[in-house]
Parts: sequence; C-alpha cells; structure tokens
Amino acid sequence: MTTVTEERTSQISGFYKLTPLERAGVVKAFSALTDDEVRMLQTTGALELDLANRMIENVVGAMPVPLGIAVNFLVNGKDYLIPMAIEEPSVVAAASNAAKMARDKGGFTAFCTEPIMIGQVQVLDVVDPYGAKMRILSSREEILKKANEQDPVLLSVGGGAKDIQVKVLDSPIGPMVITELLVDVRDAMGANAVNTMAEAVSPLIEAITGGKVYLRIISNLATKRLARAKAVFSKEALGGEDVVDAITYAYAFAATDPYRCATHNKGIMNGVIAVALATGNDTRALEAGAHAYAAHAGCYNPLTTWEKNVDSDLVGTIEMPMAVGTIGGATKVHPIAKICLKILGVKSASELGEVMASVGLAQNLAALKALSTLGIQRGHMKLHARNVAVMAGATGDLIDKVAAKMAEEGRVRLDRAREILEQFKKEG
Ligand code: MEV
Repeated sequence: MTTVTEERTSQISGFYKLTPLERAGVVKAFSALTDDEVRMLQTTGALELDLANRMIENVVGAMPVPLGIAVNFLVNGKDYLIPMAIEEPSVVAAASNAAKMARDKGGFTAFCTEPIMIGQVQVLDVVDPYGAKMRILSSREEILKKANEQDPVLLSVGGGAKDIQVKVLDSPIGPMVITELLVDVRDAMGANAVNTMAEAVSPLIEAITGGKVYLRIISNLATKRLARAKAVFSKEALGGEDVVDAITYAYAFAATDPYRCATHNKGIMNGVIAVALATGNDTRALEAGAHAYAAHAGCYNPLTTWEKNVDSDLVGTIEMPMAVGTIGGATKVHPIAKICLKILGVKSASELGEVMASVGLAQNLAALKALSTLGIQRGHMKLHARNVAVMAGATGDLIDKVAAKMAEEGRVRLDRAREILEQFKKEG
C-alpha cells in the first residue's frame, strides 16, 4: 500500500511494490510532471535517432539503461525523489533504505564550496621558470581580463575567471611552468568555459614567459569544487550498537587497505554516478575526480568517514569533488536528463552536488551495513533470481514465482529456472 502523506514528502513506503506505471504516477504528483513527460520517461528508447546523431559521432542507435527512483531522501530539510540510471540491481533499493534510516536523525546536511574549476596551461622551453612564474603572477589582471572576455554570459551571472596560480614542476623532461586559471563556472559543469579560457590566455602566457604552450585543459581533480554531506544514523535504525561498531570496523579496513578502499569508494560511486547519468552529467569526469581526490594525500583514502558519537549512534561524512552542471552539455539536451532534473527539483548545480554527495553517503552506509551483517549476496540474489527467471522465459506472475522458488532452494541457475518454469506451466 502506498502512503503519500498530505505534505510533499519523499518518504513513500511500499514504493517498490508498485508497477512502473503506478510509480510514475507518484513521481508525477511529487514533481508536477506533465503527461508528455511521463510518457517520455516510459518510452524506454526515448532518445530519438536524430538527437543521438547530433550528440556524438558515428551513431547507430542508443543504449537504454533502467531508470529507478530512490525514495526517502531528506537533504537540508528538503524532500527529494532521486532519479538513478544504473544497470546494477540493489543500488536503488539500498539508497532508499539508507535514506529512510537517516530520517530518524533529520536526514542529510550537505553543502558545497563555490563552483570553482581549474584550467591548466602547460608551458615548456622557459629559460627562467621561477622568474616566469613571478611574471605570470604579476600579470594576473591582464590574464583574468583576457579569460573573462571569452564568456560574457558566465560573467553576467556572477561567474568567470577569479584568480590564477602558478607552479613550476620538475618533470622527467625538465622544468615546466603550469598556470592554473580558477574559474567560477556557476551552474555549468564547466569544461567548455574553462577550456575556451585556457586556450585564449595561452598566447599571452607565451609572451610573458618566452616559452611555448602545449596543453590547455580543465583538470578533473576539482579540489576547489567540493561537496560535503553528513548524516547521523541511530543505533536503533541500524539494528543495534553492534552494527554501529561493525560499520566503523568496515571503515577502518578501507582506511587502511587500498584493495578494500577501492571497493568502498566504488560503492559510493554507484550512487553518485547513477544520479550523474540520469541527469546527463559527465560520469567519467566525476569518477576521475573522485579517485584522484581519494589519493590526494599521497595514499588512497575512503571518500567517507564513519565514527560513533557520544550516544553510540553512527556519524557518517563524505567529501568529494563534484563537477556537475544543471545547464549545458547533455543536461539540457537529453529529454530524460531534463525530466530527471525536474524530478529532483534542484535550483542550482551546487544543490545537485549536495544531493549527490548525500546519495553517495547513503549508498556507502547501505553497503557497509549489509557487508558487516548479512552480506550482500542475499539481496543481490533475489534480484538476480528474477533476471534468471526472465532469461529462462518466465513472464508476468511467473517471474516472481520462479525467482522465489530458486531463492528458497538457494539454487539460482538458468537450468533450474527452466525446470521450475516448466513445472509451473504444467501445473497451470
Ligand atoms: C557493489 O557494487 C558495491 C559494494 O561492493 C561496495 C562495498 O563493498 O562497499 C557492495
């Protein structure tokens, strides 16, 4: 039974029991979607060939991925339904469960730094690299002016190149001078704006340094564009203080061992990337930024922390680069991305970043809780069993019946699914 309370809440029990059509009805009411938008969401090949053909090169079709909605998210006191595009079972359910547990203690508190991206300009063949560094720094105003001439629209909304920094790298081919433009990209992901500026200032930097410019490109290690989120999970919601302890042990493992840490962070990115994909954001930029940031201190660290507070509840935090946009790129071109942004109801890229950091934290909590208690296979197997039942040819009610039987037997295999299906069919 679905219960949507009078006020606009994302806390929806039994959402998973609805049909896709019924779920879309709930989302429609929550996010004021139009009938056309709902129809578009449910047209699983909704990317028209013409549009796809304009987005990338050598197009032959489109690759649909399931789009699910994580419920229960409360971030900075605001309710969100979270669109997640992902092929992996359990992720959407896990995020929803963790978000539900977080509500006990007020949900997620999240905030972002200013949306500053870094553009790098590489100069070689400089006779006096340190002297050149000083000359570049003292030409700051001129360089910023040249950069800002490139994007009057960004300037008009309060963004633009705000500062520069310069470093001399001792590289395998000798010293190189790297000028970094610090650009406030407002609600864009920023690659286009930053790359254009980096290219535009290059002749000036060559003139100042007497060297030759090679690379002019954004850095995906967005250390000046961070999203942070925090949530407290009560020991009662988690199933006891033992579970709180076990999760801190899981965190300690990740904080000590890069082999575990990679998987720990992968679990976080399950959530972050699913929202990024749903909203048409650059998933590779986020992945690159996240893992480089995790290794930023010189060894590879978890993007989250988990500790026990004085009440023996669990406190989780996350901090990661969040180069996401709500304008530009596929966010405003892809019809489903546009609808997903409407479902989220975010007003800025920073708000989107805050929600995504919260989803990452929720995803990590769900994984650590499952791993440190029952293990993840039980949940995975249930969903996997349904997929195997479908592969065996089950349709309609038979999918769940065949899956349930295999799960009960603990044998989730295609040959067994076929046998069970035949048996059910015989029994009529
Ligand atoms: C699976 O996609 C993600 C997990 O492996 C994450 C983790 O181990 O923390 C469950």
